[in-house]
Amino acid sequence: MKIIKSIKKIQQILAKERLKGRSIGFVPTMGALHEGHLSLIRQARRENDIVVVSIFVNPTQFGPKEDFKKYPRNFKKDALLCEKCGVDFIFYPDAKAMYPKGYKTYVNVEDLGNVLCGKSRPGHFKGVATVVTKLFNIIGPDLAYFGSKDAQQAIIIKRMVEDLNMPLKIKVMPTVREKDGLAMSSRNIYLNKKERKAATALFHSLKAAEKFIKKGEKDAGKIIHLMRRMIQEAQPKKIDYIEIVDAQSLLPVKKIKGKVLIALAVWFGKARLIDNIIVHG
Ligand code: PAF
Repeated sequence: MKIIKSIKKIQQILAKERLKGRSIGFVPTMGALHEGHLSLIRQARRENDIVVVSIFVNPTQFGPKEDFKKYPRNFKKDALLCEKCGVDFIFYPDAKAMYPKGYKTYVNVEDLGNVLCGKSRPGHFKGVATVVTKLFNIIGPDLAYFGSKDAQQAIIIKRMVEDLNMPLKIKVMPTVREKDGLAMSSRNIYLNKKERKAATALFHSLKAAEKFIKKGEKDAGKIIHLMRRMIQEAQPKKIDYIEIVDAQSLLPVKKIKGKVLIALAVWFGKARLIDNIIVHG
């Protein structure tokens, strides 16, 4: 496994691999790797000749009051995990190389980036779409892998790839959960013991919503009310949102019909946790 920091160098190396006819699978990450990331890397390993993982805590997707500085960073551990999973190259650029002085270009996927997480994190998805575009241009993957926990991100990236005719396929893999249901996230380390236990209410509320719908409930308002009550019992710091939206347009639905995304963001202590499920009504 090679660790490459230079944009030019990784482009040259991968151009040679492509000339040899080798396919490239790419897993973009911000590091602090957990089983969720590793499941994407393993899938990439199974499906491609060359596997590239990027580790870059992207400043443009954090708001001024968000956790950019505190975001967990443990490159040595991440590199060991990548090596174990059979990664060929880690792309590990620094912020100055990605956003040099005079940087002016951003990618904005309209509407989809302004709802759900985009409402409370203005500019977040513009930062994500921009860095992912840059990474796709640098790596030139055939396949790129994203997790379902960040459902809105995956939908936005898919839209962007289609709209901008980017020559690659996006694969979205299932959320990996702890034994008690909590979705794996790099931010779970912010939770103390009590918060960690309480946070399982998120998954339980999603499962309850799913059960309610499977039994025939169609009223999105009623389902959200039930979820809110369950989550409030766990005494979170703040419920950011609980929404039921169309799984493609991300527009809120009143009556459950077809494929819906039930998504939430809730603060427990210093951690803003997100989770979701897709249900067919
Ligand atoms: O999901 C993430 O970790 C990030 O948003 C991504 C896709 C690596 C872009 O910085």
